[in-house]
Amino acid sequence: MVQTTSVATLAVDGGDPVRDPARRWPEWPVPAPGLLESLGTVVRSGRWAISSPGHGNLFERRFARLWSAYVGTRHCVPTDHGSSALVIALESLGLDPGDRVLVPALTWTASATAVLRAGLLPVLTDVDPATGTIGPEHLDPAVGARAAIVVHWACAMADVPAITAVADGLGITVIEDAAQAHGARWLGRPAGSLGRLGCFSMQHAKVLTCGEGGAVVTDSDELDRRLQELRADSRRYRAPHETGALELAETAGVMGANFCLSEFGAAVLCSQLGLLDDQHETRNRNYRLLDDLLSGIDGVRLLAHRPEQDRLSLYEVPIVFEDLPPGRDNRWVAAALAAELGTRVYPPRVPLHRSPLLRPSTKPALAPLAAEFGRLHAGRRFPGAEHLAGHAVLLHHSAFLGPAEDMVDVAAAVGKVAAGRPL
Ligand SMILES: Cc1ncc(COP(=O)(O)O)c(C=O)c1O
Repeated sequence: MVQTTSVATLAVDGGDPVRDPARRWPEWPVPAPGLLESLGTVVRSGRWAISSPGHGNLFERRFARLWSAYVGTRHCVPTDHGSSALVIALESLGLDPGDRVLVPALTWTASATAVLRAGLLPVLTDVDPATGTIGPEHLDPAVGARAAIVVHWACAMADVPAITAVADGLGITVIEDAAQAHGARWLGRPAGSLGRLGCFSMQHAKVLTCGEGGAVVTDSDELDRRLQELRADSRRYRAPHETGALELAETAGVMGANFCLSEFGAAVLCSQLGLLDDQHETRNRNYRLLDDLLSGIDGVRLLAHRPEQDRLSLYEVPIVFEDLPPGRDNRWVAAALAAELGTRVYPPRVPLHRSPLLRPSTKPALAPLAAEFGRLHAGRRFPGAEHLAGHAVLLHHSAFLGPAEDMVDVAAAVGKVAAGRPL
């Protein structure tokens, strides 16, 4: 139980902060044991890319095996970014130009820009303000969508099985955007393995990172073949027994682009994967403690999770101020918490229908899609997304990698800020 009747002046107003500024927060990323040796192996191997001359022993192949085993899918195609993973996942479906794809309004812009890059039209849909994710009720048949990017947002999984049950009847293919959900589980099944395709980002801020990277996973042999060509300029891996000077053969079934992950990135991911489950355990233990501590503060909550989600993967952890301090918005709350805690606390990005990052009209090649995008979204409202964008503040998952006392500090700061002003 946290006292909310602090008489102390807020740090943002010049008072003493809740947390001693000398106490440090965990750093991110955490380099795994053996990481430097793996990078040294790449340097000395003379094979820095999957397109380098040679055959066999690529870190990239090793990571693909490790990651598909971790996620529980038959295939994994690593990519250079999470965005390119989404682009090739969409392209692999062979949809018609301008076909519609549902995208939640509350997500990073890449979930929607990838749709445009694939020559398709993103149609934004609202999210449930409790979880920040879409549900089956958000699949509006009137949209005529052919695919849906289902995002697991912040630390809450979307109900992919229920969405798929409705989507199947509407001819909509479900692509999981699990860029923020490595290792999250739904009734024991890992995020990314529940949709037709699952996409991951391994960018710096993610729980599994190599700086910049990504991956697509699927159980479909046919999609796997297309994904390989789409991300490597129409080339696929040669089978281990096939002779040839190069790892990739010019199979040329579908025209691709170069979205390949470098050997350096793949080596980093092979090492970092060894830390992931232990880090989940630490973060999730701290999260449960924070949930407990915040239960004593009226008007403040963590994001809701569906009971089927039996493992969390924290990314940016939302603390939702249902009751904002009088006269304050969540940008002020974020700044006040950051001042109390000495770490970054920030509001979610604005919903995509008014995001300055999603402006297809700035790219001449997208002109027809941009016009249609503008027309479709003019005057539309997304109250669920707006609610979280206006009431939540976010803490990066690395803040959950330290001792339990860190959670006591977070809860004390939330209590102090929730009280608004000294009484
Ligand atoms: C939900 C979501 N989708 C896609 C991406 C894009 O990944 P990347 O930055 O690796 O291209 C991100 C990255 O933050 C993301 O959060």
